Amino acid sequence: MFDQSLVHDLFKRQLTLCGVREGEQVVVLSQGRLRLDYADAFMYAAKSLWANAYHMRLPHLLPTDGNWSVGATELATNPEAVAALERADMVVDLAFLLFSPEQFAIQNAGTRILTVVEPIELLARLAPSRELRERVEAGAELLSSASTLRFTNRHGTDVTYRLGAYPTMSEYGYTDTPGRWDHWPAGFVFTGGADDGVDGRIVLGPGDVLLPQNRYVANPVEFTIEKGFITDIRGGSDADLLRSYIKSFDDPRGYGMSHVGWGLDERAHWHGLAEPSFPGGMGMELRSIYGNVMFSIGPNNELGGPNDTACHLDIPMRDCSLYLDDEPVVIDGDIVVRDLQAPSRR
Ligand SMILES: [Fe+2]
Repeated sequence: MFDQSLVHDLFKRQLTLCGVREGEQVVVLSQGRLRLDYADAFMYAAKSLWANAYHMRLPHLLPTDGNWSVGATELATNPEAVAALERADMVVDLAFLLFSPEQFAIQNAGTRILTVVEPIELLARLAPSRELRERVEAGAELLSSASTLRFTNRHGTDVTYRLGAYPTMSEYGYTDTPGRWDHWPAGFVFTGGADDGVDGRIVLGPGDVLLPQNRYVANPVEFTIEKGFITDIRGGSDADLLRSYIKSFDDPRGYGMSHVGWGLDERAHWHGLAEPSFPGGMGMELRSIYGNVMFSIGPNNELGGPNDTACHLDIPMRDCSLYLDDEPVVIDGDIVVRDLQAPSRR
């Protein structure tokens, strides 16, 4: 569908934004038979910028119980591979290392990492820009200086996160900073509440999104949250689905409250999960939707926290209002802080 020269141009623009330059060492990491076409195109792009590049291909993980278990990778039993990745300037991660201790070790060695696992249609349509980065970074600055985050919606959500325990993260779809990770495509900011510092009620309404289920909620789901943990999930069939999913991990930490934040990419569509628009993938478009409020359940080790459960859900919500220290940032799904607004929405 995509002409190979267009893919090469796209990947070269990406690596240019990532600051790849002559003499740098780029390693493209893949696993099994997945995304070998991306690996070739990234090596071509790196070479065309006069960087050194090679492709490290890991064996495919053995089949699991079918759940999306975050944090398990083939690198865990491959210290020599980890050492090589630590020596690189940049790793293009086509294997999805997120939440693994190996990813953190590679970042700590100063290597920047860009994850690329989404379909080419999304990489092209939501390609990153410096303009998006500036607004995401402005959002991150605002979030990092707040001591409370509260969000509400018309379905009855009213939940407050006590902030300050964890850093704020930004994702804008490229990375030119040593040791920094990003994911292409992306446009959002997030942080985490204190481990015992999230309390209230979250009520999902029809059209809110469940990831990794890749589906829209059809009927309301009500979560009760006390001291950072979900203590009750009520509703119809969607509540049953969530209860069943979380329970299947057999891990009480799967009920922990993870990251929270909002999306900033006005090019991302809410209908992006519905046919015929959905090209496959893991829902980065839905996480990035302009003015969505996304909360997350499960691990907070990505932020430096102690919870490394393999059970992880991201839930982008529509039409929420979000306040930092009681100051509005998002009202009914629209960003109201001028520095964070897309030029087309001002
Ligand atoms: Fe997440």
